[in-house]
Amino acid sequence: MEAFILNGPNLNLLGTREPGVYGSATLADIEANCREKAAALGFSAVEFRQSNHEGVLVDWIQEAGRRSAGVVMNPGAYTHTSIALHDAIKGTGVPVIEVHISNVHARESFRHRSFVSPAAAGVIVGLGPLGYTLALEALAGLLKR
Ligand code: DQA
Repeated sequence: MEAFILNGPNLNLLGTREPGVYGSATLADIEANCREKAAALGFSAVEFRQSNHEGVLVDWIQEAGRRSAGVVMNPGAYTHTSIALHDAIKGTGVPVIEVHISNVHARESFRHRSFVSPAAAGVIVGLGPLGYTLALEALAGLLKR
C-alpha cells in the first residue's frame, strides 16, 4: 500500500519562506516526518514530491490514481485557482486529503476558496507540518474502512 504526498508551488522554499506564516520546518523535515509516520502506519512506500508546475501536479495525481492507495496533497496557491487539479482529483479512484500548513481561513479572502476541497476526501488546515502526518493517519483510517 503506497501513499503519494504531493506539494505544489513555493513549498520548496519552506524554512525561509514567510516563517511567521509557515514556520521554520523545511520540506525535507516534513518529508522525514511523513516517512516515519507512513512506515508506522504500515504504508509500504511513499512518493514525496514537489513541483511549481500545475501540469506536472496533474500528471502526478493521475499517476497516483494508477499506482497508489491514496494521496496527501498541499496544492499551495493552485488550491485557489485550479480547476485542472479539481478535475484530476475527481478522475482518480483514490482518496485525496488536502493539507494546508497555515490557516487559510484566517488569511486573505482570496485564500478562502478552494477548488480542491470539493473533490477531496477531507481537509486539514492550519496545524502546521503536523497536518501532513495527521493526513496520513486519516488516509490509513479511510483505507481500513
Ligand atoms: C498553503 C496556503 C496557500 O494559500 C498558499 O498559497 C501556499 C501554502 C499552506 O500550506 O498554508 O502556498 O497551501
